[in-house]
Amino acid sequence: METIANSSTTYTEAYNQSINDPEGFWAEQADDIAWYQKPEQILSTDENGFYRWFKGGKLNTAYLALDYHVENGRADQTALIYDSPVTDTVRKYTYREFRDLVARFAGGLQNLGVSKGDTVVIYMPVIPEAVIAMLACARLGAIHSVVFGGFAPHELTVRIDDAKPKVVISASCGIEFDKHIPYKPLLDKALNDSKHKPAHTIVLQRPYVVAAMQPGRDLDYMEVMQHAHPVDCVPVDAHDPLYILYTSGTTGKPKGIVRDNGGHAVALKYSMKAVYGVDPGDIFWAASDVGWAVGHSYLVYAPLIHGCTTVLFEGKPVRTPDAGTFWRIIQEHEIKVLFTAPTAIRAIKKEDPDGKYKQKYNLPSLKYLFLAGERCDVATYYWAKDMLKVPVIDHWWQTESGWPMVANMVGYGLMPAKPGSAGKPVCGYKVEILGEGGQVLIPAQEGYVAVKLPLPPGCLPTLWQDDERFFKSYMERFAGYYMTGDGGYIDEDGYVYIMGRIDDVINVSGHRLSTGEMEEMVASHTAVAECAVVGISDELRGQRPIGLVVLKDGQTISESEIEQELVSMIREKIGAVAYFRNALVVKRLPKTRSGKILRKIIRNIADGEHYAIPSTIDDPAILTEIHNCLRDRGIGKAFI
Ligand code: COA
Ligand code: AMP
Repeated sequence: METIANSSTTYTEAYNQSINDPEGFWAEQADDIAWYQKPEQILSTDENGFYRWFKGGKLNTAYLALDYHVENGRADQTALIYDSPVTDTVRKYTYREFRDLVARFAGGLQNLGVSKGDTVVIYMPVIPEAVIAMLACARLGAIHSVVFGGFAPHELTVRIDDAKPKVVISASCGIEFDKHIPYKPLLDKALNDSKHKPAHTIVLQRPYVVAAMQPGRDLDYMEVMQHAHPVDCVPVDAHDPLYILYTSGTTGKPKGIVRDNGGHAVALKYSMKAVYGVDPGDIFWAASDVGWAVGHSYLVYAPLIHGCTTVLFEGKPVRTPDAGTFWRIIQEHEIKVLFTAPTAIRAIKKEDPDGKYKQKYNLPSLKYLFLAGERCDVATYYWAKDMLKVPVIDHWWQTESGWPMVANMVGYGLMPAKPGSAGKPVCGYKVEILGEGGQVLIPAQEGYVAVKLPLPPGCLPTLWQDDERFFKSYMERFAGYYMTGDGGYIDEDGYVYIMGRIDDVINVSGHRLSTGEMEEMVASHTAVAECAVVGISDELRGQRPIGLVVLKDGQTISESEIEQELVSMIREKIGAVAYFRNALVVKRLPKTRSGKILRKIIRNIADGEHYAIPSTIDDPAILTEIHNCLRDRGIGKAFI
């Protein structure tokens, strides 16, 4: 059943229904997926008082993503196109082929004792086997936790210790431009340092790097496949977790975002037509890494559940081999919708400002470009629009929501765009702007962006084995609301403007990272008395972190030595993706008299933005020192 395709419902009607009658609205959407057993209750609360969707429903997400289509006329349609300029490969899998691979790998996992409710960590590059691993877990009712391949061993250790997987699945290497990054030594280090020791790893040996295997523990992916028999889908409850995806919070301990099976499937299926305007059979490309929420929702689950063809791209927007690679893929595979991060467009724009590569390709299939992951600057918006001549749609969401919260819902008809705004609230999300005291602010007033409870299906029901942190992080600050962690405002016409995080989270190249975590690491250096890590503007990456450090008395280490050591430390612990390149030694940090570090002012100085000196600052002269220090080093938008 297609609930929107043939409907004349307007966005406003649908939105109002979703807010005024959420149960009726989502009951209708739930009819659009093939349950083994329909839910008994659409909306309920659990023992903690947290909202839950589709109680009593039974389903299997891998069934919806693959078997359902094999059984309903799409067996020979391409399910997945793997396009990998870094290995010079284009490979297509039909729904039947992909289902068979997933069923067999699920059998391999079952042979290792993995069953419903067990956890499995996946640490892989963007290759089909990563998607096969995710869906194989879903098939068994096991809970996967994908860790982004760009993370260093420490990040992997933290996640392994929290998720306690039975098996870790990896590959011998990833490929960054022309560099082979061996994964196995990183995995070995992570497992060496972790308290939890999974019984097995499964490693796909790619031909470019051969991983050394530990007999007994490490198993070859191909051998696991050879010895396995295909297994069937295991029915799970709507409330059973499908996956855990760790994301940066404000401290060193990442948050284990839980996604349930039922709400996730219903919300993602609905979003494909309503938000992205695609139909089953269309070709949809989310140029993301499987390790991020976009990769989970719009590379793997949503397009497959909707019966689309999804594209798995192992490459970069530039230099693989050139700034025309995105346009080549759109033309060659007849992509209808491209979803990427503004950073990717900025990278292309930087290398090919006049669109010389673009001129080589015709893109008649492309209908929309969707951007998310960070704020889309207006210059990038117009450049992309002029280049592609299709609507460019900024939309806003988070790992926590798993699908868009604010967008231009093209399935109900394209609304006029307002560059700088991510659009209007998506059906199911009552987005409001709150003041310090929790009062709802009037249009154009900037405040905390919050969503009135209940959140719609698909959003996180809790954090992995940490209901208390879930409540404290998101629900405690404003009773009856989910606090998003972003600041922004809504204009007179109802368009939402997301202005940036109000906490210690930053977005570097669309990668969500915690400056709080980096600060904890920098502070652990023996020469550092105290420090601040802040995100400053970066022309290409959106933001990048810099550190200000105060050395302990009597330290003789030079400024360049300490900088080098801290840069290496963050690279080794979090990964090169953190792009932590500068640590400046200062005499003092700017603080209020009560000791609160004025991080925002450091950011303002670097970015050349106006700031008011708070009356509570303990020593205003330090701001001049920081200004001069940044200026002398040429760090920050204000001083480049
Ligand atoms: N595995 C290992 N290392 C990785 C990595 C990965 N998956 N991703 C990035 N890195 C490394 C890079 O190789 C680089 O290492 P280096 O310091 O040794 O050169 C470092 O992390 C910084 O990478 P990045 O900031 O990405 O810079 P870049 O010059 O390599 O690439 C872009 C710049 C803009 C092309 C790239 O950031 C990009 O494609 N961005 C879009 C990302 C995106 O789509 N995000 C959406 C997520 S939803
Ligand atoms: P992640 O959880 O990695 O998806 O990151 C979520 C955060 O990215 C949000 O809280 C925002 O700060 C930011 N973000 C994502 N999309 C947008 C957008 N379209 N506009 C502004 N910020 C965005």
